[in-house]
Amino acid sequence: MKIDIITIFPQQIEQYTEFGIFRIAKEKKAVDINVHDLRKWTDDNHKTIDDRPFGGGAGMVMKVEPVYKAINELKKKGSIVIATTPQGKPLKQKMLRDLSKEVDCHYIFLCGHYEGFDQRIIDNLVDIEISIGDYVLSGGELPVLTIIDGILRLLPNVLGNEQSSINESFTENTLEYPQYTRPEEFMGWKVPPVLLKGNHSQIALWRDQKAKEITLKKRPDIVKS
Ligand code: ADE
Repeated sequence: MKIDIITIFPQQIEQYTEFGIFRIAKEKKAVDINVHDLRKWTDDNHKTIDDRPFGGGAGMVMKVEPVYKAINELKKKGSIVIATTPQGKPLKQKMLRDLSKEVDCHYIFLCGHYEGFDQRIIDNLVDIEISIGDYVLSGGELPVLTIIDGILRLLPNVLGNEQSSINESFTENTLEYPQYTRPEEFMGWKVPPVLLKGNHSQIALWRDQKAKEITLKKRPDIVKS
């Protein structure tokens, strides 16, 4: 998988991608990530990437020309351009699974800023618009990193233990069962005895039950009727 990220804060993205799943996925050559400063595609002295909105109003709008030039230079046949905005399609695990299946794909991520993109960017240059939730952030860097993190951990051979991305929250519309590790008792807080006895069918049953119980209690909205 090849990923290009267009941002006005390239250092922020570069720093983040040096750790954790990003580092692992890059080292295992499951992904090639390149970060680009949007200002590279400006041609005025101030490297302007935003301007006041037509019709007035607060805030600044991201200009179409630098984004057009950036995408034009980075785009190849079959590339998919993704922009993050609060108006986008809500991000769900299923979307991450679909995006991660395209292992030979080239994604171009566009990080938004200020009051948003000139709508002509969304209408003419972007293939998928994604929102990571019903709240407004100041920029698209965290949403883009969130989406890529969610994709990388699903790529073959990245996590090592393929089971961990199968037996997990949201895969079957249930949250994950609770997990425990040593010690068996800490401050009087005990690990459920069923997990200590090594009876695998009983453990599976208990986990299934707990997952259902927790989902009903914490996220009844995701339970299939
Ligand atoms: N940019 C600002 N807020 C956002 C959100 N909730 N999702 C995606 N991109 C955003």
